[in-house]
Amino acid sequence: MKTVQDWQEYSRPRAVSVEYHRRKTSNFLTGQQANISALIGVLQPESVLCMGAGYLNDIPMEDLAAQGCAVHLADWLPDVSRHAFLHDLVQLVGERYACLVCRQAKNPTDYCGNFNLETNLTSRADRVAADATVCGNFEVDEARPPHCRAYLPGINPIFHEADVTQGRAVDFAEQIPKLIARTKSPRKSFAKAITKLRSMKSGIGVPMADGSVDLITSSMVASQFDFEPFSYFQKCILQNFSSGVVEKDKNHLKDWELEFRNDLFRFLMEGHCREIVRLLRPNGRVYFSIETAHRRAGSREWFQPETLPATLELIGTYFNFDFDAVPGILAPEFAQTGTDGTSLIQSYILSAKSPMN
Ligand SMILES: C[S@@+](CC[C@H](N)C(=O)[O-])C[C@H]1O[C@@H](n2cnc3c(N)ncnc32)[C@H](O)[C@@H]1O
Repeated sequence: MKTVQDWQEYSRPRAVSVEYHRRKTSNFLTGQQANISALIGVLQPESVLCMGAGYLNDIPMEDLAAQGCAVHLADWLPDVSRHAFLHDLVQLVGERYACLVCRQAKNPTDYCGNFNLETNLTSRADRVAADATVCGNFEVDEARPPHCRAYLPGINPIFHEADVTQGRAVDFAEQIPKLIARTKSPRKSFAKAITKLRSMKSGIGVPMADGSVDLITSSMVASQFDFEPFSYFQKCILQNFSSGVVEKDKNHLKDWELEFRNDLFRFLMEGHCREIVRLLRPNGRVYFSIETAHRRAGSREWFQPETLPATLELIGTYFNFDFDAVPGILAPEFAQTGTDGTSLIQSYILSAKSPMN
């Protein structure tokens, strides 16, 4: 038997810069960011959890800081949201440096232990009126991007390295090498994986108390749930079996892959819904967005993502819609993807039907 790469190693993010990700995806997600901003303005939440926060392309950090709420950023990739936050903290605006915390935060000391209260205007309104963009302790390091040498992380934002499918994606992925190693052919690996999924339960999700969050965002995350575990499964098949054995099963691989991928997605999406319901306060709201149609670069054809029916079915099982919360923000939106395709994105505001965990 050949050795296969383990999941932890496979899923570790490659060392690419925040700027690279910004170039690839930020335009794609500006509409999402505007929607979440509008929702924060209307709901005035005290606590917000952004699931799949990633590189924060769609997370309106300035508005969250101005709101003064507890901000939780969760992604299964370690430290990506932290890097993105630090990347954006200090910006050169015209000829002046502006710090997101000093300028925008309602409670700046929550964000930076070195925010200088004595020599500066303490209320956000005063700081905005005086056009104060940095505090008295600001000391620039003109690196690229610039940052403040005095910045001392505070209690906000709170970064969680967490699997937002209630631990299901990671728990399953970690078992893949062993599962495949115990079978004699790709066909048997797929059959065993499907059986395994049917017997699995939830594991550990976001380390936060039940019923503790006013607003949860899940923007353009669900469409990605199955992608990495599935790609990893395919890679393990190729690493584990000789090309001759894979060749023998070749004609059926597509059918098995489809069945397995559908089951995998449903399992993960259900974990996600359950995790949201677990964490949401009574009367809390969810901002949820997904791709409902896709057109590849250079093509005229639009197609429906295979995971859409299961996504909508599960959303309907666990949530009600609140179409009136922020009129206008739920309109479908066309957005250019990082690979020059086009997505039709639909956003929803949801409330939990009833506690189900
Ligand atoms: C398309 S991005 C969403 C946009 C993201 N906020 C950004 O700025 O790039 C999807 C994010 O979901 C994360 N993700 C995918 N599956 C996950 C899981 N099971 N648990 C936690 N995060 C997950 C990815 O790591 C990625 O950062």
